[in-house]
Amino acid sequence: MTTAERFTVLVTGGAGYIGSHAVLALRDAGWPVVVVDNLVTGFRWALPDDVPLVEGDVGDTALVGRAIAEYGVGAIMHFAGSIVVPESVSDPLKYYGNNTAASRNLIEVAVRGGVRHFIFSSTAATYGAPEEVPVREDAPTHPINPYGASKLMTEWMLRDVAAAHPMNYVALRYFNVAGADPQGRTGQSTAGATHLIKIAAEAATGKRDHVSVFGTDYDTPDGTGVRDYIHVSDLASAHVHALQKLVDDPAASHVMNCGYGRGFSVQQVLDAVDRVTNLKLDRRVGPRRPGDPAALVADNARILATLPWRPERDDLELIVTDALAWERKLAERG
Ligand code: UFG
Repeated sequence: MTTAERFTVLVTGGAGYIGSHAVLALRDAGWPVVVVDNLVTGFRWALPDDVPLVEGDVGDTALVGRAIAEYGVGAIMHFAGSIVVPESVSDPLKYYGNNTAASRNLIEVAVRGGVRHFIFSSTAATYGAPEEVPVREDAPTHPINPYGASKLMTEWMLRDVAAAHPMNYVALRYFNVAGADPQGRTGQSTAGATHLIKIAAEAATGKRDHVSVFGTDYDTPDGTGVRDYIHVSDLASAHVHALQKLVDDPAASHVMNCGYGRGFSVQQVLDAVDRVTNLKLDRRVGPRRPGDPAALVADNARILATLPWRPERDDLELIVTDALAWERKLAERG
């Protein structure tokens, strides 16, 4: 690609966990970046100093429209949104507002501003509790919570908009994202963690005294939930490859799972943490968490066939090691 084709990429939620890794990956690949983030769950310090930040909501069409024009935005990576599944059950309108309605506004302003490419953070939660695991992209999508529904509705909007306007898109359905930048530049920093590896890292660094195991009676090899954990840096690089694909082949759009295609149980994850730390976490068996499927593992054949993306950190201990290193950094920071 020539320099002239290097338009600016607008990254929403770029000061958040996954978004900040994507910003680094884009910059490492030579893409100019501008971030839109309201800093409700993100942090200015998660961005390199020279990355411009437009502080505000992604649903604010005037603000985003100005940013698109001012920075010469040619593609949007849309990470901003609310992500806590149980909260989506108790406060669904927050999710249909921050995820679905805000995305509608963002897509509209993108179309108006002539943005040609859109990459969307979707989720395995669009499948609900799949009948077949590993799950393929053409499996039925029956979300079992408003979070999954709010993301699936955004996928539908993108499908319809791409058919009607000169825009193509990739929706990446993330499985369980974990770990941190191997160079220690950013990591998962928002308080009130609910994700297993983050919680285990907090327990291993003394921030909590135990880890709850949510259910041991699932139909899985050891009875605990099985998930496909993917290193956040591999996920970030998938976005950069997806962007290149959209540029190279502007007639095509894609929905792709983003996972490694293999599952680990809760006990296997905690075993990995014990091995890496040489400690024994206090595990307390508790009841199932409402709404959790037994097993969720990606069939990743499509992304491997579509993009030159190849995972570089497909190793549970490596994911845990990077998560722990970041957790120690956060602890030092205080
Ligand atoms: N778990 C525990 N103890 C904990 C936290 C989690 O046992 O303290 C278990 C869960 O029951 C589950 C597994 O660890 O079996 C993973 O749970 P996470 O909360 O880390 O992740 P989820 O699989 O619930 O969530 C992921 C994504 C969501 C997405 C969801 C779809 O992070 O964005 O998958 O099911 F919506």
